[in-house]
Amino acid sequence: MTTELASRRKTALVTGASGGIGKGIAEAAARDGWHLVLTARKTGDIDAFAEDWRRRYGVQITALAQDLSLPGGADALFDALQARGITIDCLVNNAGIGVFGEFIDTSLDEELAMLRLNIEAPTVLAKRFLPQLVERGGYLLNIASIASFPPGPYLAAYYGSKAYLRSWSEGIAEELASRGVGVTAYCPGPVRTQFADRANAKRSALFSGNHLPDGDEVGRAAWQACMQRRRLVVHGLLNKLQVFAMRFTPRTLLAKIVRRVSRPA
Ligand SMILES: NC(=O)c1ccc[n+]([C@@H]2O[C@H](COP(=O)([O-])OP(=O)(O)OC[C@H]3O[C@@H](n4cnc5c(N)ncnc54)[C@H](OP(=O)(O)O)[C@@H]3O)[C@@H](O)[C@H]2O)c1
Repeated sequence: MTTELASRRKTALVTGASGGIGKGIAEAAARDGWHLVLTARKTGDIDAFAEDWRRRYGVQITALAQDLSLPGGADALFDALQARGITIDCLVNNAGIGVFGEFIDTSLDEELAMLRLNIEAPTVLAKRFLPQLVERGGYLLNIASIASFPPGPYLAAYYGSKAYLRSWSEGIAEELASRGVGVTAYCPGPVRTQFADRANAKRSALFSGNHLPDGDEVGRAAWQACMQRRRLVVHGLLNKLQVFAMRFTPRTLLAKIVRRVSRPA
């Protein structure tokens, strides 16, 4: 690839890119010829596939280790890109975790770290990178969830964090449309990734289905929705039908239904 061609290519920053949905998004972007900045707490897994992608897709890949649940973590990531002189055309706020259990029993420290990762980090990163995105007519992709629609017993704070992400995303999408930035809130249902294990939710009936999509499938669809500058997309027909039905279901009943389908198996 000539240096001129390489420098004309666009760059996407993907958080939580070492596996699951983030890795799927990153590969879809690389396939489209985008340079990548990929981040997670540990970069070992990213290094393992990055060399193959560089060869296969002819793109530049920078891996950066950053814990985005730490206070100041998102600012440190912004500073690291500034120090390397990297400007981005697309920010993908994907990194996120859940904390499963009855709220009275769950760890407050874990929940506060989750809120910093799921809410604070995307907000700070968007604030810092938006001037670049406006200048370059770029994209902001926020990975929310169908959990953003109903109340969520057993994952109550997680559902609340995703409700914030989706609502905030839809709000700034309207503000930024006239500035040429596409903002997408992508809402998957349950996906076969490390998420349930890490949330201690493996025992929840929510993740017991045999036909859950994997991170590659969801990541590809999310990237496509982002490139089409769609504002709100729910992944898959079944999830779409569920979200539609929620509109006509009283919230108290909805909470009881979610409690039933989420309870430990
Ligand atoms: N899986 C589902 O059922 C599902 C459904 C709807 C929405 N989502 C959303 O999709 C997004 C991706 O989840 P996933 O299912 O792909 O989960 P995953 O397989 O557990 O991947 C999570 C990614 O985030 C990174 N990460 C975790 N904690 C981090 C931290 N403190 N700082 C920086 N990076 C961190 C992980 O790498 P390290 O561990 O190395 O940091 C990994 O790259 C999340 O926002 C999740 O809420 C998932």
